[in-house]
Amino acid sequence: MFPGPKYTLAWGNTRRQEWDLSRGDPIEKLAGVLTGARKVAVLSGAGLSAESGVPTFRGKEGLWKQRNPVELATPEAFRADPELVWEFYNWRRQKILGVEPNPAHVALADLERRVPAFVHVTQNIDGLARRAGGENIIELHGNLFSTRCFECGREQPDLSGPVPFPTSCERCGGLVRPGVVWFGEPVPLLEDAIESLRDADLLFVVGTSAVVQPAASLAMVCKSAGAFVAEFNIEATPLSGRLDLQIVGPVGTTLPRVVARAFAGG
Ligand code: APR
Repeated sequence: MFPGPKYTLAWGNTRRQEWDLSRGDPIEKLAGVLTGARKVAVLSGAGLSAESGVPTFRGKEGLWKQRNPVELATPEAFRADPELVWEFYNWRRQKILGVEPNPAHVALADLERRVPAFVHVTQNIDGLARRAGGENIIELHGNLFSTRCFECGREQPDLSGPVPFPTSCERCGGLVRPGVVWFGEPVPLLEDAIESLRDADLLFVVGTSAVVQPAASLAMVCKSAGAFVAEFNIEATPLSGRLDLQIVGPVGTTLPRVVARAFAGG
């Protein structure tokens, strides 16, 4: 399905000359940076879960190619037709419950255990990184398996299975909604994410099209603070040219390879 992994260097940054391909495999170079890093951060998107069988949003078969986000992933959509919105999120819950973390999730959990400090900021709501054993994870867009009252905001974590419609809040009787961040809503954990990224010396930007704010600008927060930033994706993104290194290929292959190269000499 995917082309064989191929590694390229990012364009248009000062380290480009220094990281000439003739000087070796960029995976090896990145493994070297990783070995010396004190705090490693990860910023991930839907591409991280693609090899588990979870559809991305903007690819050829992307979720938003088949559905209009404005009709399903906004507070206005919920106000207009809460049952339809729940149908969509219950379908997504069911889909995620039927898949497993992939080698990229496992590699990140492994990496977390091996470096002195680690944080994973994810736009994904599927919980797969945690199911793979990841711990210090900031779920920027919430979690598919939590719910929140549309009126009073009371949160209910970790509810598996479909949520019957309508479900009322036990505290105020309001309608319960998915515990995720929709388009046009504030991102409650944004400040935490910025804070956690500020002192990272290495950032992996993994499987995100980098077009949705504020998540996309977080990579630049890290870069401006002096981190070495490497992107893992199957294609170039609007960020690619501004980062230090680009590793092109499916993350289920590339991430385990970098971690193995850094810590097991593999
Ligand atoms: N390995 C690496 N990258 C991959 C892989 C893979 N196996 N498969 C897909 N990708 C890349 C695509 O090339 C694309 O750049 O993953 C990215 C997925 O992009 P999007 O579908 O736009 O997902 P994401 O960046 O997470 O979207 C951000 O948009 O709709 C909202 O809230 C939703 O959190 C989501 C946000």
